[in-house]
Amino acid sequence: MTSDSATGIDAPQSGDLMERIVGLCKRRGFIFPSAEIYGGFRSTYDYGPLGVNMLRNVKNTWWRSMVQLRDDVVGLDAAILSPPAVWEASGHLANFTDPLVDCRHCHSRWRADKIEGVCPNCGSADFTEARPFNLMFKTHAGPIEDEGAVAYLRPETAQGMFVNFANVLQTTRKKPPFGIAQVGKSFRNEITPQNFVFRTREFEQMEMEYFVPPEEGMEWYRHWVDQRYRWYRELGIPEDKLRVRPHDADELSHYSTATSDVEFLFPWGWDELEGVAYRTDFDLKAHMTASGERLEYFDQATGERYVPHVVEPAAGATRTMMAFLLAGYEEDEVGGEARMVLRLHWRLAPYQVAVLPLSKKETLEPLAREVLALLQPHFMCDYDTTQSIGRRYRRQDEVGTPWCVTVDFDSLEDRAVTIRDRDSTEQVRVPVERVVGELRDRMPV
Ligand code: GAP
Repeated sequence: MTSDSATGIDAPQSGDLMERIVGLCKRRGFIFPSAEIYGGFRSTYDYGPLGVNMLRNVKNTWWRSMVQLRDDVVGLDAAILSPPAVWEASGHLANFTDPLVDCRHCHSRWRADKIEGVCPNCGSADFTEARPFNLMFKTHAGPIEDEGAVAYLRPETAQGMFVNFANVLQTTRKKPPFGIAQVGKSFRNEITPQNFVFRTREFEQMEMEYFVPPEEGMEWYRHWVDQRYRWYRELGIPEDKLRVRPHDADELSHYSTATSDVEFLFPWGWDELEGVAYRTDFDLKAHMTASGERLEYFDQATGERYVPHVVEPAAGATRTMMAFLLAGYEEDEVGGEARMVLRLHWRLAPYQVAVLPLSKKETLEPLAREVLALLQPHFMCDYDTTQSIGRRYRRQDEVGTPWCVTVDFDSLEDRAVTIRDRDSTEQVRVPVERVVGELRDRMPV
């Protein structure tokens, strides 16, 4: 631990921070290793009672900003299983590969571009030639496992938007510039999944394809880089842990004329949270050629017909949740006692409010449950009667609950309760009838 002498607050060092977050996630029910009773399963994870709330909040907050608050973006939920034709046209069958090498000494397998020439397992530098390894999960649809039944689990949600471009255009009567957004699972047979949920084989993406007139492409690209950077900042990622990194020319995908990554300062260094890519008309043209369908926009006002260009902000929901956990984690002192606190934005916290009767005595329960019932339609609430009130505040701080509402013996007389703030630890007394309004004021729409 390092100590900031100005504040007296202890900041966990980066190596520990990762361990602490992984430990916290397991101990408090955010993220469990999958199939743990059978020894776990190859870097897959299950989201527990708190994790499922938080992950849902990350996705809902993204959806709110990308779809709900805009009139130019609509949603989609496409199938995960898809035929080879989609991936043939998109280029994934030919190009979605990582370079795979085997260590000749210990026979472990690695992604050649991630190991700097030395086997992380045994230290040997003797490797086989790198060969391309396709990252898509292949399966069969139906009972016959022949070539005609081959299907793939999607490695990105994006192709669902391109394949449905004409359907969405016809049914919504949108006109470029407009976007199609999707949140959902994607699958990649990563050679080396690593860093907890940063890189896994099964993960969730939040992607939007924004279709624009070709001459407006660069302008919208800059718009979306800016918007997406702000989204992370507004949800509490500090300025010194967030940056936009434009790709060098030699990093650009074959279809992209410009890409920028929004990067977070992870404990191991700067790494990608999201890519914003100007994909030109590559995808629509590829599907048009392969399917024979017209994937164009016809502008009735000008009589012009064109294939829109695409700007794509593509984020990872599971990876982003991990960044919010890392950025929010702090250790400080309250009343001379050390505490762990997750300073999560209220939109992201697993619970916005915890209702805590001061004591287990049955006399407090009816009023505490009445308060809980008042709050539940508005906020995700926890209800906790175990242990001392101090311990319960600490437990809520540790999982990021921004406000606790305490019902005590005076509450039975004056029908007032105490709202306690996670960050300042300040407490205010409010009448039961005003508690919803008081909390609403702290969580403006
Ligand atoms: N449609 C473009 C696309 O999929 P990408 O950069 O490969 O672009 C977008 O993926 C985002 O999805 C990444 O920035 C990352 O947040 C997330 N992501 C990609 N692979 C992942 C993995 N194996 N595990 C967790 N998240 C991943």
